[in-house]
Amino acid sequence: MKRKILLIFGTRPEAIKMAPLYKEFKKHNKVFNTKICVTAQHREMLDQVLDFFNITPDYDLNIMKPNQNLFGLTADIIKNLKCVLEEFNPEFVFVHGDTTTTMASSIASFYAGAKVCHIEAGLRTNNKLSPFPEEINRQVASRICDYHFAPTEKSKENLLKENIKKSSVLVTGNTVIDALFKTLEIIDKNPTSKIKELHKIIKNQKLILVTGHRRENHGKGFENICKALNKIASNNKDYLIIYPVHLNPKVVNPVKRILGKTENIILIEPLKYPDFIWLMNKSKIIITDSGGVQEEAPSLGKPVIVIRETTERPEAVSAGTVILVGTNTELIINKACELLNNSRLYKKMSELHNPYGDGKACKRIVNFINNLSQ
Ligand code: UD1
Ligand code: UDP
Repeated sequence: MKRKILLIFGTRPEAIKMAPLYKEFKKHNKVFNTKICVTAQHREMLDQVLDFFNITPDYDLNIMKPNQNLFGLTADIIKNLKCVLEEFNPEFVFVHGDTTTTMASSIASFYAGAKVCHIEAGLRTNNKLSPFPEEINRQVASRICDYHFAPTEKSKENLLKENIKKSSVLVTGNTVIDALFKTLEIIDKNPTSKIKELHKIIKNQKLILVTGHRRENHGKGFENICKALNKIASNNKDYLIIYPVHLNPKVVNPVKRILGKTENIILIEPLKYPDFIWLMNKSKIIITDSGGVQEEAPSLGKPVIVIRETTERPEAVSAGTVILVGTNTELIINKACELLNNSRLYKKMSELHNPYGDGKACKRIVNFINNLSQ
């Protein structure tokens, strides 16, 4: 009998980081019957990733609503997963990271009696309000999950401190590095039409890449960040700031209002994964509050200014590629201008580092499951 595996995910970053794991399970079709359920907590941004990795979900809960809230989202995921879990009856469910999909799917899978496996386990700030609600989503998943795939030794240590059994934790590297390496290979052989289009827009201009979406930055935080970007743009006219804007209306509205008219800032729709990776690679620096971008940038040697007060990814800060700056307007301006104008600092921060893995995380995870007795 094949062992039944269900991967559940819902947002862009989960899809990017679960896609290579799905492909790896699919290589072992004689042993595993692997299916995907998307909650579609995200819609367009999720579909972009599914499309690039050529993945058709077996189940699609299609729950995204414009301007959704955490209450409805959590309830809809748990309620709608019941039928899927009862129909497929998986032995193992894989969840990823820290979203509401992660937390709610862990609970539903536990209710259904599946063994729950957490990818990207053990990241912590130990501040329940930052990132909100992700820190608590991760902690809830850790309480529920049977197996914990930690990206780094540091994340394993965090789990052991919480009395999680050592034998249930495996350090694998982050699956985002598997996705990144594969995608770099694809772009290199076969640049997309969007890459060619971006090439024409950018010409030879020097680039600052920006992304942002965190809930704890909504409101005042985004106002501060946007004011800083306007000033960085006017102080550095020889740079082009390019910002693929997250589709959350709480992000789109302030960003368009404050940055929409600035000459050397371009606001664009979210990019497909390969196009975004290409743009990261072209950029001089990155300003972001994204978790995934903090993990990808060290492998590309791109200095990152993190516009958050805390990070659950301290490895890149220790490696020196990432600086945690917060959302104070002056601090963001000062740090960005220093980095653009101080070549020694820039050189030091742009050394290649790879604290998040060697691109073989998915192989390790599948081997681990394969070796568990039935
Ligand atoms: C979610 C996750 C966050 C993750 C981020 C990745 C939670 C609580 N938050 O935040 O941890 O870092 O995704 O991007 O799980 N929208 C669209 N189309 C899309 C996606 C979003 O229109 O494809 C709009 C909708 O109006 C939606 C809103 O964005 O209601 C918010 O989406 P939601 O998933 O609740 O929050 P994110 O800020 O995207
Ligand atoms: N990303 C993308 N297109 C974009 C912006 C980001 O494909 O326009 C990718 C990025 O490379 C990273 C992931 O999306 O792998 C990060 O997603 P996000 O910042 O939304 O979520 P987080 O990682 O903060 O949870």
